[in-house]
Amino acid sequence: MSCIIPRYPVHLIDVVRIDNGSRITIRPTLPQDVELQRAFFRSLSAEGRYCRFLTRLNEPPEALIERFACIDYRSHLALLAEVFEDGQETMIGEARYIVDVRAPETCEFAVAVADDWQSYGIARALLDRLEHQAAASGIRRMVADTLLTNRAMIGLASRTGYAVRTNRKDATLARLEKTLPPPTTPQTKSRAGCVGRLSGSHHSP
Ligand SMILES: CC(C)(COP(=O)(O)OP(=O)(O)OC[C@H]1O[C@@H](n2cnc3c(N)ncnc32)[C@H](O)[C@@H]1OP(=O)(O)O)[C@@H](O)C(=O)NCCC(=O)NCCS
Repeated sequence: MSCIIPRYPVHLIDVVRIDNGSRITIRPTLPQDVELQRAFFRSLSAEGRYCRFLTRLNEPPEALIERFACIDYRSHLALLAEVFEDGQETMIGEARYIVDVRAPETCEFAVAVADDWQSYGIARALLDRLEHQAAASGIRRMVADTLLTNRAMIGLASRTGYAVRTNRKDATLARLEKTLPPPTTPQTKSRAGCVGRLSGSHHSP
C-alpha cells in the first residue's frame, strides 16, 4: 500500500505516565502503523471490538486497515497510544475522527483502549487531544453512536461533556454529541507529560 503523507502534526506527540508507572506515548498514526493496528484490533476482546465497530468482526477488513492508514490529519485524524516494553512497541489505544463530508463542521469519532489498559485515563487523554486538534482544525461538533448498553463509553462521554441521547433511527444506540469551542486558542504543549489521573493536571477543552 502506498499513500502520500501530508505534514505530520508533530505537536500532537506526547508522553504521559499512568498510575501503574507505565509511560505511554500518544502520537498521530502513520501509514506504516498497519501491523500495529492489526495487532491492536486482535488484542481487543470480541465485546470490545463489537462496541468499537458495532458489528462482529474477527479480523479487520483490509479496506478498513488501508483507510485507517492513509489519513490527512485534518479531515481524518487518528491518535494512537502505545507502550514500549522489552524493546517491543505495542499499541494499546486509539481515538479517531472523520469529518462528515456533507457537514464539514461535524466529525464522527470513536475510541478504544485494550482491555488490560482500561480505567487508567487513556481514553480520556486520547479524546481530549483529539478534540483540541479537531477544534484547531475548525471542526465544531463531535458526534458518535454507541450501544446504549456500553456503560464505559457512555460514562466517558458524560464525564467529558457530551450530551447523551437515544439515537432517533436506532433505539439500541446512544447518540453522543459535543460542541467544540471556535479555533481561537493556540495549540500548546502544556499538557505534555501528564493526563487524567496520571498526574492530575489534565484539562478539558
Ligand atoms: C470506552 C473505553 C474507550 C473507555 O476507555 P478507558 O481508557 O478505560 O477510559 P478512561 O480510563 O479514560 O475513563 C474515563 C471515564 O470514563 C468512564 N468510564 C470508564 N470505564 C467505565 C465503566 N466501565 N463504567 C462506567 N464508566 C466508565 C469514567 O467516568 C471515567 O472517568 P473517571 O475516571 O473520572 O470516573 C473502553 O472501555 C473501550 O475501549 N471499550 C471498548 C471499545 C468501545 O466501546 N469504544 C467506544 C466506541 S464510540
